[in-house]
Amino acid sequence: MSLSLNFSYAHSKKLAGQGISNEMLKPTIERTSKALEHLRREREAGKLPYLDLPDDNKTRDACKAMAAKFEGFENLFLSGIGGSALGPNAIFNALAHPLHNLLSPAKRKSRPRFFVLDNVDPVQTDALLSACKPEKTVYNIISKSGATAETAAASLLIFDQLKKRVGSDWKKNIVCTTDPQSGDLWKLCNEEGLQTLPLHSGVGGRFSVLTPVGLFPSYVLGFDVEAMLAGAAEMRERCLDSDVQKNPAAQMAALLYLFDSTQHKKMHVMMAYANGLYGLADWFRQIWAESLGKETDNEGRVVNVGPTPLKALGATDQHSQVQLYIEGPYDKVFLFLECKKFGKRLRLPELYSNVSSLGYLGGQTMNKLIAAEFAATREALAQRGRPSITLTFPEIDAHAVGEFFMLWEIVTSLSGSLYRINPYDQPGVELGKVLTYGLMGRAGFEDKAKGIKV
Ligand code: PA5
Repeated sequence: MSLSLNFSYAHSKKLAGQGISNEMLKPTIERTSKALEHLRREREAGKLPYLDLPDDNKTRDACKAMAAKFEGFENLFLSGIGGSALGPNAIFNALAHPLHNLLSPAKRKSRPRFFVLDNVDPVQTDALLSACKPEKTVYNIISKSGATAETAAASLLIFDQLKKRVGSDWKKNIVCTTDPQSGDLWKLCNEEGLQTLPLHSGVGGRFSVLTPVGLFPSYVLGFDVEAMLAGAAEMRERCLDSDVQKNPAAQMAALLYLFDSTQHKKMHVMMAYANGLYGLADWFRQIWAESLGKETDNEGRVVNVGPTPLKALGATDQHSQVQLYIEGPYDKVFLFLECKKFGKRLRLPELYSNVSSLGYLGGQTMNKLIAAEFAATREALAQRGRPSITLTFPEIDAHAVGEFFMLWEIVTSLSGSLYRINPYDQPGVELGKVLTYGLMGRAGFEDKAKGIKV
């Protein structure tokens, strides 16, 4: 069973003239077809290694072997930020029990609790570090560049805590996931003799979920990595299909680009109708924003492009956002994440049948209620001329999660071509990093932050 996509609610037929017609779509589909050829050529030239990650058995086996060393550990503590945290977080959110960390070890099948430190908030950092006994914790420090200030700060605290509490064996509890070709972290690991999982230099942070960034934590937590990679490989084949009518990534990229560039619909709201899919929306926000939000195009012209990704949770956000979505500006496209079969079927008790606001629910299931809420919201939006695209998960499992990641990675690459920008860099975040280094007194950056006060 595979992820399915429904584009009909983006079409003008369903939207009373709003939306995109076949005639409008045609020229962009032709451009997308060319973008697809370009993508295939780039892959053959070895320039897009993210596309080959599902077949990288060597890396998969290295992650599995490393994870095997930590059987019986109480905690997995991940320290990373952006692309080095959002992927593992999304996988955990989708595949673990919603209250995993509160379950007894037996109910967790002796898998560790999972904590992610992806910020430098002192209260949160201290609380997370204090929650884990260092001697019973494996610390996975993830930084592709090996130079990110937030992750570097967390590593200092982790190293210090381990040295003090575990003594001479402290290194056994650390696994660093980093790029051997950049930054100080790899060098430090070699000097100190820390355990490492290398990252491919050609795979950027937000495209790295199927590298050791996502695979090692998945193995430690007992998720079905093989199924996740198989899902990604299957979706890759669908998304490289030169028949663009059948190709979900080509359809998605063309439609979203057209909505942005011709109908001023620059807000792309990913609305998950399952709590387990909400982390995927968080992951999507990063790949969409950081890849497509660019000042200049490939020829160096100032274009300032980029749709704004937003996330929402159904049915919860029907009571906070949907009023805006239905009556506010016509500037949004909705990307619904629907789950067909939940891991639980929850029947509602037949109580108070004479109370009109309760009685009709008794005997039905909560599964039907969330499905009805989704169908009703999508329909109501359509009746008010608001387009949407639906991604349906047959169920929330590792296979579908792998499909989802590969789908959006390829859609992002194709969209980069449509916007004529480079989706793989992030020059806009550099200045903030440099100024932070200056403010924190890093050698070589002292002048950069002159005049700014902390
Ligand atoms: O996608 C990206 O490249 C970024 O979001 C990075 O993942 C993020 O800045 C963290 O970088 P690093 O893994 O080098 O510490």
